[in-house]
Amino acid sequence: MKQSIIEINNLTKRFKDIVAVDNLTLEIYENEIFGLLGPNGAGKTTLIYMLATIYRPTSGTAHIATYDIVEQSAKVRELIGVSFQEAKLDWSLNYNEILNWHAKICGLSKEERQKRIKFIVEKLQLFDAKGKPAYKLSGGQKKKIEVAKILIQRPKIAFIDEPTAFLDPHIKKTIWDLILELRDEGSTVLLATNLMREAEVLCKNDRIAIMNQGKIIKSGSPAALKDTIPGGDIIQVQSRNLKPEIEKELTNIPNIVDIRINDNQMLIYLNKAEDVASTILQILLQHGISVEKFQMSEPTLDDVFFRYTQKFLK
Ligand SMILES: Nc1ncnc2c1ncn2[C@@H]1O[C@H](COP(=O)(O)OP(=O)(O)OP(=O)(O)O)[C@@H](O)[C@H]1O
Ligand SMILES: [Mg+2]
Repeated sequence: MKQSIIEINNLTKRFKDIVAVDNLTLEIYENEIFGLLGPNGAGKTTLIYMLATIYRPTSGTAHIATYDIVEQSAKVRELIGVSFQEAKLDWSLNYNEILNWHAKICGLSKEERQKRIKFIVEKLQLFDAKGKPAYKLSGGQKKKIEVAKILIQRPKIAFIDEPTAFLDPHIKKTIWDLILELRDEGSTVLLATNLMREAEVLCKNDRIAIMNQGKIIKSGSPAALKDTIPGGDIIQVQSRNLKPEIEKELTNIPNIVDIRINDNQMLIYLNKAEDVASTILQILLQHGISVEKFQMSEPTLDDVFFRYTQKFLK
């Protein structure tokens, strides 16, 4: 049974005439990585700022582990950690000083601080930045320090905003592994990201939401959202003796939405390909078609993103 740890009800944030978060209602379960996807300006960061008690909502409520984000903000702050989209560092300090200070205000003992900082500094390969004040660091180095802060803190509830923007593929992978570990060790993560691959990797067993113009358009597991795209699965058949009459035969299968035959290749667009793949293969073989390749592919999260955001982007 899933236990909710963040409950958001009709939450709104206005900046003059802009409604950044619009009457949003959402429940996030304990111990999941909930991915928030949406075009630039959708309201992801504003939502995180409200939940992290940085912005005061214009209206509506949210509770974190039963604490009201406005009325009991001090209690909320004891439970949460934030990794900001734009690194928020004391620019005159070096990474060791920044991380040590952060760990100290989070209440970690000296011994624990040293242990966790050493581990994360090695994992994120921060050595290049040794001794330099933060203002002299590259964009990626600054971002690594920002993410390191939350990975050292290990809060019960982690708000992580675009953790791997600007970072190279090795560090991306390391950070993804560390965020998965954080969840596996009991934290709940609200992740805002524009990287579909990141959401795919981190939220595979949990949920994502597509946000646009301050509202949640659609939410569910990545697999369930992919299933909502009509004809989104594709079966690709390669054969030297494809016959046009096969198309007629296959259209009797209700899952199939469209069929395109081009020379030696047939593309079948359908729903829930896994349910009918064996029937399709059987029909092909019964008609004496020599199948050289039979490949199923499902829609990507990019397809889901475009499907639920394109009409707003015109
Ligand atoms: N402090 C602010 N003052 C005025 N408007 C703001 C402020 N912060 C955000 N906005 C506006 O609110 C809307 C949502 O912005 P937000 O930063 O939450 O989007 P986002 O989904 O995080 O986008 P991105 O993917 O670019 O990070 C935008 O129209 C933005 O211009
Ligand atoms: Mg943002």
